[in-house]
Amino acid sequence: MSGAMQGGWLVIAGLGPGSEALVTPEVSAALAEATDIVGYIPYVRRVSPRPGLTLHESDNRVELDRARHALEMAQQGRQVVVVSSGDPGVFAMAAAVFEALEAGPEDRRGLDIRVLPGITAMLAAAARAGAPLGHDFCAINLSDNLKPWSVIERRLRLAVEADFAIALYNPRSQARPEGFGRALDLLRSSCDPERLIIFARAVSTPDEVLRTVPLSEARPEMADMRTVVLIGSSAARRVPGTGFVYTPRGVEG
Ligand SMILES: C[S@@+](CC[C@H](N)C(=O)[O-])C[C@H]1O[C@@H](n2cnc3c(N)ncnc32)[C@H](O)[C@@H]1O
Repeated sequence: MSGAMQGGWLVIAGLGPGSEALVTPEVSAALAEATDIVGYIPYVRRVSPRPGLTLHESDNRVELDRARHALEMAQQGRQVVVVSSGDPGVFAMAAAVFEALEAGPEDRRGLDIRVLPGITAMLAAAARAGAPLGHDFCAINLSDNLKPWSVIERRLRLAVEADFAIALYNPRSQARPEGFGRALDLLRSSCDPERLIIFARAVSTPDEVLRTVPLSEARPEMADMRTVVLIGSSAARRVPGTGFVYTPRGVEG
């Protein structure tokens, strides 16, 4: 038996980094068909109100409640879009919805659920900078809301040791002013001072600022919650005479 009443569905969609031009056509189509939009306040506000559409804004820290609410509404026959910024599978709502689905009643598992990708912040930032993620890379969420700092530190240390380029999401907030400074200290203890660090703030919005500095000049205040930080691998370099940074396609054996 399907868990959904006739017509109900749930889409978990990524709105991209900010610009309307970077919202995919399939996400726009889902938003146009929806009866309900669910998400963190600033993301829901990116969706234009219209008759027949109910906007459900909620605070940042209630992901699982929001996910359960979205599942309930879809089960009741509503056409629900859960919105995230960037991509919904990157430190965002898709995993929270599946967590709620797994923990919830079994008759919900037959719901029509789709995840629609979006352009994640690190890719939008990398494109602005050139191609700093042109070889192997990884992404680390620097927020210790959902994991202990010791895990973050270990992953960062091993990523540096393996010489990945690294994208740092959620680098620094008012509630967590110290973590990013500790991450920079860790980098300084094992990387060349000339290692390139890209601070990409509010990419694809009118507030966008991109700044590339050597590690020796990187300061914690250069990042905030609207910034994704790209740490170049040891091979990342500037193209002389341009503002571009890239990582060559090959690594010498
Ligand atoms: C909770 S995570 C969500 C990531 C999102 N799902 C994505 O795929 O981009 C929020 C973090 O993403 C990064 N971020 C999101 N939008 C950004 C943008 N337009 N420019 C720079 N960084 C951004 C920042 O590091 C921010 O603290």
